[in-house]
Amino acid sequence: MKKIDMKAGEMLSPLPAVMVSCGDMENSNIITIAWTGIVNSKPPMTYVSVRPERYSHDMIENSGEFVINLVNEDLVFAMDHCGSTSGRNEDKFKEMHLTKAKGDKVSCPLIEESPVNIECKVTEVKRLGSHDMYLAEIVAVHAAEELMKESGRFALDEAGLVAYVHGEYFGIKTRRLGTYGYSVMKKKTAKKRREKGLSYGGRKAHFEK
Ligand SMILES: Cc1cc2nc3c(=O)[nH]c(=O)nc-3n(C[C@H](O)[C@H](O)[C@H](O)COP(=O)(O)O)c2cc1C
Repeated sequence: MKKIDMKAGEMLSPLPAVMVSCGDMENSNIITIAWTGIVNSKPPMTYVSVRPERYSHDMIENSGEFVINLVNEDLVFAMDHCGSTSGRNEDKFKEMHLTKAKGDKVSCPLIEESPVNIECKVTEVKRLGSHDMYLAEIVAVHAAEELMKESGRFALDEAGLVAYVHGEYFGIKTRRLGTYGYSVMKKKTAKKRREKGLSYGGRKAHFEK
């Protein structure tokens, strides 16, 4: 693969673009965040990086709480709007016709219309330069009931989630390419999964393409 050299920058993709709600049930706000991810499993930990000039910054800084609301295709417009306007000038819940729901462990409202709400409590702040990074423990998760199948499989792939790729939003409701560990899957397991309609194969199928 021939490469070109580019300016060093935030070139990691795809990223989730999420709607982060903060404040409390009365005085709340939503900020769109792409600088986020999972940083630890036990305890489950995440982060959001927020520029100090954002209206949401002080809300998160002062309360030490926020909620990550995952974005599906129905929410893309609202997500872009919450990333382009400030809570200093408008009530984004009202403007985007979004509903506040109560959290279990934090005072911030959840966005009812989001398929997955992740309640977070800040454990540490890193002042990195342009952004303050809020490391946080995930203290509760709520997910749309319809995503939990009778078989016990949590079908997050059916939530219609959205990815942020270099300034553009893409739906990821596409074909399944593999599953965690499929490249090292035993032949027998790969065969069973193919029979269940999961079209990808194991190592042999990959290299014989
Ligand atoms: C897709 C997208 C991703 C964004 N990611 C971040 C981010 O990670 N950190 C940040 O500080 N601002 C980010 N922004 C910008 C803020 O969401 C935007 O400045 C917003 O208007 C701030 O709202 P507030 O002033 O009500 O807090 C992003 C905007 C968009 C559209």
